[in-house]
Amino acid sequence: KCAPRGALVIFGGGGDLTKRLLMPAIYNLACAGLLDEDFQIIAVDWAEMTIESLREQFQDAINDFVTRRGTSAIALRQDVWDHLLERTSYLRGSFEEASTYTALSERLGHQNAVFYLAVAARFFGTIVDHLGESGLAQEDDETYRRVVIEKPFGSDLASARALNVRLLSSLEESQIYRIDHYLGKETVQNIMALRFSNGIFEPLWNRQNIDHVQITAAEVVGVEKRGRFYESTGALRDMVPNHLMQLLAMTAMEAPTSFEADAVRDEKSKVLSAIHEASVHEIVRGQYISGMKGETALKGYREEPDIGIGSQTETFVAMKLGIDNWRWAGVPFYLRTGKRLTQRKTEIAIHFKQAPFALFRDTPVERLTPNILIIHIQPSEGVTLQFSAKVPGPAVRLGGVRMNFNYADWYSDGPTTGYETLIYDCLVGDQTLFQRADNIEAGWRVVQPALSHWNSGGVPMSFYPAGTDGPREADELMHRDGRRWLDLS
Ligand code: BG6
Repeated sequence: KCAPRGALVIFGGGGDLTKRLLMPAIYNLACAGLLDEDFQIIAVDWAEMTIESLREQFQDAINDFVTRRGTSAIALRQDVWDHLLERTSYLRGSFEEASTYTALSERLGHQNAVFYLAVAARFFGTIVDHLGESGLAQEDDETYRRVVIEKPFGSDLASARALNVRLLSSLEESQIYRIDHYLGKETVQNIMALRFSNGIFEPLWNRQNIDHVQITAAEVVGVEKRGRFYESTGALRDMVPNHLMQLLAMTAMEAPTSFEADAVRDEKSKVLSAIHEASVHEIVRGQYISGMKGETALKGYREEPDIGIGSQTETFVAMKLGIDNWRWAGVPFYLRTGKRLTQRKTEIAIHFKQAPFALFRDTPVERLTPNILIIHIQPSEGVTLQFSAKVPGPAVRLGGVRMNFNYADWYSDGPTTGYETLIYDCLVGDQTLFQRADNIEAGWRVVQPALSHWNSGGVPMSFYPAGTDGPREADELMHRDGRRWLDLS
C-alpha cells in the first residue's frame, strides 16, 4: 500500500550514501507505486551546491544504478525519475546551527517527516538535539516525525548507551529507526520465513540435533577509501555487534508471537542477552599484509591510504560464542568476518550432528559428509542442504551431495539497493526491521570484553596475506574443537 503523504529530509543529502543508495531506493519505491504522488525530498547539507548540481549528481548515480546492477540493463523510467527530482529541494546549512532547523521547519510546514541522518556519527547527537529544541521532532495526532540513525551506533557499550540516552531525551523510542542494512536484505528476512513457515526445520533446530553454527561475512575488498574511518573502527566494531549479531539473532531466536515490531525485537533481545560475553581467548584478530590475487599484487593494510605504518587495527576477526538457554546450551556459534579474503561470501551454515554410522562403519571419517544447511545471504542468494548419498556402483560408497535453492531460479526482480524495504517501513511506521535500544546495547555487551582487552594492548595481531582465507589462528580456533571452517572459495 502507498505510504502516507510526507517528506523525507536527508541530512547529508549531498553525500555518497544519498546518491548511491537512498535515491535509487526511493526511485524503486516510486516505480512500485508505493510513494504518495506528492512525496517530497529535502536534502540538507553544508556543501555549496545548487539544486541543479545536486540533481545532476543524482542523475549520474541513477544511470549508473540501473545499468550496473541486475543481470540485464533496465531502462530508467524517466517520467518517474523526473517526478521525483521535481519534488526534491536543497537546503544549505550547518547541522550545528539553529538557523538550519528554523529554515527546515518553514519549508516542511505541518507535514509528516522522516529525518534520515546520512551523516558522520559525530553529528547524530547534535542533529537530534536540534530537532528536539526546534520543535521539529514534535508529533501530534495527525503528523508523525521519525528519525533514522545510520551506523556506527556508538563505538563501544558505554558510548552506545550514552547515545541512546541522548536520543531518548528528544525522541520517543517509537520515533527512532536505528538502521542495520543487513536487515534490509531479502535473504536475511528469509531466515524467519525459512524457520517459521516450514514444519521440517524447527524440530531439528536445537542442541539435540545441531553440532555448531558458522556465520561468515567475508569480503574481497580492502578498506578502499575509508582508511580514516576504518582505522578507528576495525573489523570487530564495524561488523560484529551489528550485522553479525543480527544474523545470529535471526538464526537463534525463538519464534515471535507475531510480526509486530516489539514481538520480534523482544525475541531478539532475549537471545542476545543469553549470549556469553566473548572470551578473550576465543577471539582472533587479524590484519592483512600484502598478497597476490592471481597475477595481481595486493597491498597490505598498512600500505593503504590514511593508515598508520604501525597500525594495530584489525581487518579480520573470528570468535566462538555460546548461548545460555535451553535451545542452544553447548552449541558453539563461530563467527568470522574480514576484508581482503578469497571470496565475497556471507552465509550461515548450520552443521547438524553426525548420524549414528553403525551401517557405514567402514567408511573413513573424512568420507562422511556432515549434514549442513547453508543459508546464502550474498552474493549468491538461496539455501543449500548438504547430505550423503550412495555413489553409483557395485560397492557401497558414500559421497557428499548438495540440494540447492537459488532465488534467481524462482524470482526475477529488478535491481534493488537493499534500502527499499527499510525506507518504506520508516514511511509507514513499521519498526520490525530496526534495532531497538536494548538490541544494540546487547550486541555491544558481547564484544565489550574483547574491546577492553585489546585496548589494554598486549594482544598479538595475526597477520594474513591479502587474497587468502584469513589467519592460521582462526583455523586453530576451530581445530581445537575438532572442527573446520567451510571453505570460502
Ligand atoms: C558496512 C561496513 O556496514 O557493511 C563495511 O561498514 C562493509 O565495512 C559493509 O563493507 C558490508 O556490507 P555488505 O552489504 O556489502 O555485506
